[in-house]
Order: sequence, then C-alpha cells, then structure tokens
Amino acid sequence: MAVDLLLGLQWGDEGKGKIVDVLTKNYDIIARFQGGPNAGHTLEFDGIKHVLRTIPSGIFHDKSINVIGNGVVIDPVVFAKELEGLDQFDIDYKKKLIISRKAHVILPTHRLLDAASEASKGKAKIGSTLKGIGPTYMDKTGRNGIRVGDLELSDWKDKYRALADKHEAMIAFYDVDIQYDLKELEEEFFKSVEVLKTLQFIDSEEYLYKAQQEGKTILAEGAQGSLLDIDFGTYPFVTSSNTTAAGACTGLGVAPNKIKEVFGIFKAYTTRVGSGPFPTELFDEVGAEMAKVGHEFGAVTGRPRRCGWLDLVALKYACQVNGVTQLMMMKGDVLSGFDTIKVCTAYKYKGEEITHLPYNIEPENLTPVYTEYKGWTEDLTKMTTKEELPQNLLEYIDFIEKETGIPIKIVSVGPDRKQTILR
Ligand code: GDP
Ligand code: IMO
Ligand code: MG
Repeated sequence: MAVDLLLGLQWGDEGKGKIVDVLTKNYDIIARFQGGPNAGHTLEFDGIKHVLRTIPSGIFHDKSINVIGNGVVIDPVVFAKELEGLDQFDIDYKKKLIISRKAHVILPTHRLLDAASEASKGKAKIGSTLKGIGPTYMDKTGRNGIRVGDLELSDWKDKYRALADKHEAMIAFYDVDIQYDLKELEEEFFKSVEVLKTLQFIDSEEYLYKAQQEGKTILAEGAQGSLLDIDFGTYPFVTSSNTTAAGACTGLGVAPNKIKEVFGIFKAYTTRVGSGPFPTELFDEVGAEMAKVGHEFGAVTGRPRRCGWLDLVALKYACQVNGVTQLMMMKGDVLSGFDTIKVCTAYKYKGEEITHLPYNIEPENLTPVYTEYKGWTEDLTKMTTKEELPQNLLEYIDFIEKETGIPIKIVSVGPDRKQTILR
C-alpha cells in the first residue's frame, strides 16, 4: 500500500495542521517525519483551536494511529505539556500515539546552546524558535545524540551528564550573557522524561513497513516548509532538517518508491518568520493588511510573520524538489477586498530576467517581476462549494495551475475544518 505525503511549500505555517486534520479520515496512520517543537500546527473544529508541536495532527480522530518518526527531535518538556493539553479531550494517547526509538531527544542544554548561538550572531541571527533544534540535529549528525530508545537503558543518565557537561563548556565558549539554572531545568526535564516513557516506543520503520504490508493507509506529515529545508532552503536562514519529500523517506524509513501522492500546501500569499531573504516581502500597508486579516503571528513564538505576495518562482521550485502531485491553496479568504492581487512570475537578477531560484536571493541581487490579477470582494469564509468561488479568484487559481502544471485540489477559506472546499 502506498504512502501519501503532505508538506509545506513556502517558509512554514502554510496550514499543514488544518489539512492533515481534514484528510485524516482517509488514513489509518499519520506520521511526522522531521522537525520538532519548532513546529506549531493549528487545528480548529467545534469552536476550539488546538496548536500541536510534536504530536501529529491526526490525534483528534478516533481511529488513526499517530507515529512520531525517527527524523523528529523531541523535547520531553514541551511534549509532556502537549500531552497535558490533550487530557481534557479524553484522547487515549497511550494507544494512539507511538514514538520511534530512533527519534532524538532535545536536552535543556540544547535549548541553551540555541540561545547562545543566536545571541553570538547578533544581527546575523537566524531568528530560530529557540527550541534547541539546530544543536540537537548537530549532535545527531555528530553522532553524540541521545535517542528515545536510550531512555529505556539503565545508563542513559551517564551519557546525559557527559553530553550536558560538554554543552556547558560550549555555552561558556560563546561568551554571551545567558542566564540559566541548569538544576531547575534538569528537574523539569527528568520529570518530563518519565511522562514520555509512559508512551509506547517502537521500531517505527518496522511498524510502518508491516502496516504497508497489511494494506494500511499512511499519511506522512511534514513540518516547516520547503524553503526552510537544510539543503534546498534559503541557507543559512533555514531549519536543520530536510523538510522536503526526501525527508519523509529518511525520517520514517519509508522507501521512495512507496510514496504516491505528494500534497503541497501553500498560502495564496507568502509569509515568513525569522530572518532571511524574502523576495516578495511587502513593507507597506498592503503587507500590514495581510498580516492583520490573516492573523499572521507565529503559533509557537507569537512573533509577527512577515507578509508578501505569492512567489510563483519559489513555488515552482518547491513543487519541483518535492514532486508535488496535488496543490492545496490556503487562506484565499485573507485576500478578499484587495483591488489588485500580484503574483511574482520572474526575478530581475543581475540585469537579467530569470524564472528559477538562484543561489543567492538577497534583496540587493534581485527584484521580483509581478503579474497582476483583479481582486475580489466576496467573503469566502461561508462558502462551501467550488461553484460559489468568485470568478476573479478562479482566474487566479487557473493561472497558478497553468504555471505549476499541478491541479489545486483544495481551496481553504478559513481556519475551521469545515471551511475547506474540494475541487
Ligand atoms: P502550519 O504550521 O502549516 O500547520 O500552519 P499554522 O497553524 O502555523 O498557521 C496557519 C494559520 O492559519 C493558523 O492560525 C490556522 O488556523 C490558519 N488557517 C489555516 N487555513 C486557513 C484559511 O484558509 N484561512 C484563514 N483565514 N486561516 C487559516
Ligand atoms: P511549522 O511546522 C515557520 C523558522 C524559524 C527560523 C528558522 C530556524 O509550524 O510550519 P529553528 O527553530 O527551526 O532552528 O528555526 O526556521 N521556523 C519556522 N517558521 N513555521 C515553522 O514550523 C517553523 N519552524 C522553524 O522562524 O526562521
Ligand atoms: Mg506553524
């Protein structure tokens, strides 16, 4: 049985959580394959809003099993709080949520190292979520990390101590003003590890292989976005994992030839949190209006998101790297009321017009070239069928489909599960 894959095509926060929740009814298993609590996936239904960080977005459905794959990094402290948040919804997570033994553990000192690294960079900082993501993946690839499976061994605390001591020396090396009380942080950490240990740890690659043999349906859930990919994103202003399709293979142990549909999620415009180049960013009242109407504040850090027009050059690049088979357009409702909708179809780059993403997309090298569309005034948020969508929006959709060569199968017109139009 094939595995489908859902991922973000921009700089994150495209609305992945919402769509995974909408699609979960079609799947037996939802599996996160990378990232960690830097993610904030928002789901809304029955008037309640949930923000998930490490837990897959299928958790609210009765029948689905949710897997945290080997490519994910888990902070037991954040995770324990996430579980606590679920308690009121009567979710049997001991049965429905299972964790790969090969997933890596974020230590309190990883978070401190993240903060120290960012502070030392000054203006050149990445604008990370300060959740310890970079340092944890560094320890993973440096072959020093502690994995979930280690927590079952009697000597894991020795390994922990050695690593935390090394981290403390590294924090001192940065020579920045980071205040912390490690004893206090460790107390919380060790308590949370015990909570984590009440869940099932599994060899998830084996579990997912068997599930496929048994004909079970699997949806792999990505975090962050393609332009934050460690290899293909706007390096160094990226996250530390492969957010693109290949990350699902390494982050779950799913073979490439088992992946069928690749659902690519994008906003009808573009947002970005943190530092780094953003060719279509708007610094005027239009950008401010998008931020206001779209409530563009980070689900994890509360930071305002930078806003701008849709960048088709970047979108096509993301479709290409991921092999996207179906597109899903989010937040079209936010653009209602704009007289003109602009979409970037090329860049002026070093005096030349180009239609691919060059190595260097810093603003001094590049100016976006826009195609303009007539806006629409209709409120989309109450619409439930494709027939109701305004003509000008349909023309915009048509243009994106033609440019990418990929059909837009879902148009999302609000944060709620029900505000989802199938095409
Ligand atoms: P994710 O990280 O990709 O899951 O996205 P986030 O949850 O961080 O950010 C998306 C935000 O947009 C959340 O607040 C969602 O509730 C909201 N959202 C999702 N789809 C829509 C939509 O179609 N319209 C509007 N107005 N909001 C949406
Ligand atoms: P979801 O899954 C948006 C950004 C950070 C920063 C950079 C590196 O909700 O879409 P990190 O903490 O990963 O080292 O930060 O990546 N970033 C995100 N931006 N959505 C996310 O996740 C993000 N996760 C990380 O703002 O610029
Ligand atoms: Mg998010």
